[in-house]
Amino acid sequence: MKNILFVASEGVPFIKTGGLADVVGSLPKDIDKRYFDVRVILPKYTCMAQEMKDKLEYVSNFYMDFHWKSEYVGIFHSEVDGVHYYFIDNEYFFGGMAPYGGDVIWEIEKFTFFSKAALSILPVIGFRPDIIHCHDWQTGLIPVYLKERFQGNEFFRGIKAIMTIHNLKFQGKWDAKDVQDITGLPDYYFTPDKLGYYKDANLLKGGLVYADAITTVSSTYADEIKTEFYGEGLDGLLRARTNDLRGIVNGIDYTEFNPETDKFLEYPFNAINFRKEKVKNKRALQRELGLPEDEKTMMIGIISRLTDQKGFDLIAYVLDELCQDAIQIVVLGTGEEQYENMFRHFAWKYSDKVSANMFYSNPLSHKIYAASDAFLMPSLFEPCGLSQLMALRYGSIPIVRQTGGLKDTVEPYNQYESTGTGFGFLNYNAHEMMRTVREAERVYYDNKREWNKMIDRAMAANFSWEVSASKYQEMYDWLRP
Ligand code: GLC
Repeated sequence: MKNILFVASEGVPFIKTGGLADVVGSLPKDIDKRYFDVRVILPKYTCMAQEMKDKLEYVSNFYMDFHWKSEYVGIFHSEVDGVHYYFIDNEYFFGGMAPYGGDVIWEIEKFTFFSKAALSILPVIGFRPDIIHCHDWQTGLIPVYLKERFQGNEFFRGIKAIMTIHNLKFQGKWDAKDVQDITGLPDYYFTPDKLGYYKDANLLKGGLVYADAITTVSSTYADEIKTEFYGEGLDGLLRARTNDLRGIVNGIDYTEFNPETDKFLEYPFNAINFRKEKVKNKRALQRELGLPEDEKTMMIGIISRLTDQKGFDLIAYVLDELCQDAIQIVVLGTGEEQYENMFRHFAWKYSDKVSANMFYSNPLSHKIYAASDAFLMPSLFEPCGLSQLMALRYGSIPIVRQTGGLKDTVEPYNQYESTGTGFGFLNYNAHEMMRTVREAERVYYDNKREWNKMIDRAMAANFSWEVSASKYQEMYDWLRP
């Protein structure tokens, strides 16, 4: 039996801002319990939903030296679907209105505290991991502390670390002097071959240098980040560590995302009856959102954080023109104000075509996957992307830019061979995107049989965790024979 510890800044069902939480909340369930004991450590944020907080049980507390002070570390515990979760409690650090936000230096201090506390609670809870699996920059210091701080301690000696990159754009960078003060690490660690990054210190970089293995969430992204365009300044380091870097594509929770048993749907459907049943969800959603009720009109869904990463500047460029077509666009999500305002504006200007829902709602997201005919995701970069996997599962045909995980999970339509599960374009160019949307419109309106066959293939594609979880298991076994 091997002990695996996940440490992350968010995880479903407790707290979620993005795809990271979905992965942390679903992957551990699918790791084979006969061979692995996987546990998870998360921060106990005050902003967690009350019903989730009610599920946590107090375990213990102690005080830990941190940033010239002695800080309270509370430990809570909960079990979900057979997975043990531990929570680090400290209201000073985790008391904000949201998991993230505020100054960079504050974020760095918060997650340095979290990383150190996550290691410190292990002897207290009596769980000695063989491998600590770290996720994103918030946990980048764990491999560093493991090699240094905790090295002299028998309990920690020999524990291996994996660093998984969900998004290379966020690294936790700040002036090296301040970071040194907070982390308490000696000068030795702040040279350019370690945490040093020009005048800054970079927490993710520390993780990438000291982890025993590095993964990211698709194999195309694993290649891309070794290039300057996608490398966010760390491509050199990633090239140097190429032998320790692999891409393992994410899955989604196939029980939660199942159009046949989805409790949020008025009209559940499956791969056999979707030709009759799926469209009922479209009508229901049109009614709910105040769009003209017409089952023939092609509905395009967008569910996303509204940030540059997701390609919204391309959409901004051609949305007016696209709204001349016979389509409906349903958007759900929050993010940068300019994009929220853009969609509100178009929902006002084309009220019979655009529905702008500038908030997040899990039930509504399921309804959109079920109701929409196509799903637009023109990302500038996309480490994996989960929405296109959900869209495939619900027979909503993805229209994507072929980058990162989008390239690995959506096969572009080929009319001659009658293959493919979606539509793709290569260059980050608004008109290329629009041409591709219009290609999809043509197939949808002029060749419904082909369109439905594409839905057959999309719904038959398998992106459950099964395959990917076994790849993580292989890696655990390889690191710890
Ligand atoms: C980040 C990435 C996204 C990925 C997710 C989970 O949110 O932007 O592409 O799917 O992490 O790994």
